[in-house]
Amino acid sequence: MLLEVRDLHVEFRTRDGIARAVNGVSYGVDAGETLAVLGESGSGKSVTAQAIMGILDMPPGRITGGEILFRGQDLLRFKEEERRKVRGAEMAMIFQDALSSLNPVLSVGDQLGEMFVVHRGMSRKDARTKAVELMDRVRIPGARERVKDYPHQFSGGMRQRIMIAMAMALEPALIIADEPTTALDVTVQAQVMDLLAELQREFHMGLILITHDLGVVADVADRIAVMYAGRIVESAPVHDIYKAPAHPYTRGLLDSIPRLDQKGQELYAIKGLPPNLMHIPPGCAFNPRCPMAQDMCRTDVPPLYAVTGTDAVTEVDESPGNRTSACHFWRECLHG
Ligand SMILES: Nc1ncnc2c1ncn2[C@@H]1O[C@H](COP(=O)(O)OP(=O)(O)OP(=O)(O)O)[C@@H](O)[C@H]1O
Ligand SMILES: [Mg+2]
Repeated sequence: MLLEVRDLHVEFRTRDGIARAVNGVSYGVDAGETLAVLGESGSGKSVTAQAIMGILDMPPGRITGGEILFRGQDLLRFKEEERRKVRGAEMAMIFQDALSSLNPVLSVGDQLGEMFVVHRGMSRKDARTKAVELMDRVRIPGARERVKDYPHQFSGGMRQRIMIAMAMALEPALIIADEPTTALDVTVQAQVMDLLAELQREFHMGLILITHDLGVVADVADRIAVMYAGRIVESAPVHDIYKAPAHPYTRGLLDSIPRLDQKGQELYAIKGLPPNLMHIPPGCAFNPRCPMAQDMCRTDVPPLYAVTGTDAVTEVDESPGNRTSACHFWRECLHG
């Protein structure tokens, strides 16, 4: 496994109390694989990513448990200097908002080139050539002329391509893309997503794609991990989840995707609100919103059950750890 997060816990100390943002997240991604991480706002997707990248705000954040194994080594035991080497060269992150992630007073060419100067010891001239190559590679028209332009001179879609170029510059083994297309309009979203998927395949990278959008996931992801209140509630190969979710929360997310064949019908929305992370409900955190909740759901925290094939779902892959659900009633949900 290229990256394996094991039982990660992160909390934030705030004036009002301790917010338990990440409560035992475990997920992994292999080289050449795309893992989509899904879940409502506040479920801990970005905080987990920041912990992996080593860019968590500490304080107020604090990692209180777990391991982040990259090529088998626990990054949480690395010194900051070793960590810095890994970041950028071995793993890189793409954010939603390119404009605030790029430096407004440096030309795009200088920012791209800087990666090669700092990490590869290249001359400015060679670095500039590399920058143009990269801009070409992410299909920015007229790269040779535009290399001198500043971030604000590019459209949102083009800026996102520049972010992708920055992330790709040193050919990292892992890329974490946190809502990379959310700020773009729909057609541009698709183009940027296609580019990212293409580069991921070409360079055989591991890709963690954080998104609200179940629509884009089906096309590009191999696996899905669904987060709720700082835990993974379901994890499975993408096709299994679409065929039959094994957690009521996943079912709720799937039912809230607009479908062309159901035009005119009211869109389903999961009732209620995500929990307050300072007072996560006892038992299953989802129980107050769950249409299937029973007494035990209000008292017993569900473990991660291994979901195995049943008569109704014959094609489910039964290899160990392949599919998990944190629902006491995953069987009922699967058949639901
Ligand atoms: N610097 C911080 N200080 C205090 N609390 C924080 C901080 N960063 C994140 N949190 C809290 O951690 C929780 C998880 O946040 P996170 O950003 O991971 O959510 P998310 O799943 O990425 O949501 P979104 O889809 O909105 O991006 C939130 O409740 C948030 O308020
Ligand atoms: Mg986020």
